[in-house]
Amino acid sequence: MSLFAHPGSIGVFDSGIGGLSVANAVSGLLPRESLLYVADNARAPYGARSREEIVAFSEQITRHLLAAGAKMIVVACNTATSLAIDHLRETFPEVPFVGLEPAVKPAASGRRIGVLATRATLTSPRYLALRERYLADRPVWENPCIGLVPIIEAEAPGSPVLSKKLRQILDPMLAGGIDTLVLGCTHYPMVREDIQAVCGPEVDIIDPAPAAARQVARLLERHDLSNAAPEGAENIGAPHYDFYTTGTAMPLLRSLSALPALQAHRRLLRPFFSLEA
Ligand code: DGL
Repeated sequence: MSLFAHPGSIGVFDSGIGGLSVANAVSGLLPRESLLYVADNARAPYGARSREEIVAFSEQITRHLLAAGAKMIVVACNTATSLAIDHLRETFPEVPFVGLEPAVKPAASGRRIGVLATRATLTSPRYLALRERYLADRPVWENPCIGLVPIIEAEAPGSPVLSKKLRQILDPMLAGGIDTLVLGCTHYPMVREDIQAVCGPEVDIIDPAPAAARQVARLLERHDLSNAAPEGAENIGAPHYDFYTTGTAMPLLRSLSALPALQAHRRLLRPFFSLEA
């Protein structure tokens, strides 16, 4: 089975529900745009996968999104961006891509920095170069958050299992006195309130989704791909959202119902079984 054709939509993918934090920001900023979302739950988490696997999965999903008519691809996954976006840009030179990277540049206004990201992201040359460029002169605590993504997929925000795991991850960096925390995996903003509850209100938490949405808007303009109504035109039609998962639907359904800009579209969830696990 392939994705249903939906020309002119923005293709978004992640290993699971994390990219919804980005899709939500894109939808809020660009309400006229249609979205086509693939959650690769069957092969998640990506963070423990090899570079070769992440590149192959990212290329495969991108091909499906483009075949369905996507005009742009948002790699709504820090892990896939860190390891595969250069390959994607080389393989599909005519396609605009927006990636998600740990927001270390905005974090440079803090003095003691925590970074949460997957192991694959934290060891990638892209992340190491960013850290060297913006944070080399201050203490940085990193944690690869082993096991956190499956808990975020399985548990609703507020669950005791989730807060226990977050305390294990965050306690050492809080003991180190961090004042700024970078959410370097798109799954983590989905449980931002749980993270803030463990950190306390004085820690500044940085989610890159709003900046990524602004970059989507800029690239659409630059490539003349915006779905804005021309001057004086009537309504050009309601946007259309499709959400696909390669695995179980429950995490997506639960998350969509919690996201204001996307929740009206949650019935358009479809299974997508053509990717090999
Ligand atoms: N949401 C992803 C990220 O931003 C991937 C998490 C995973 O599958 O390990 O890194």
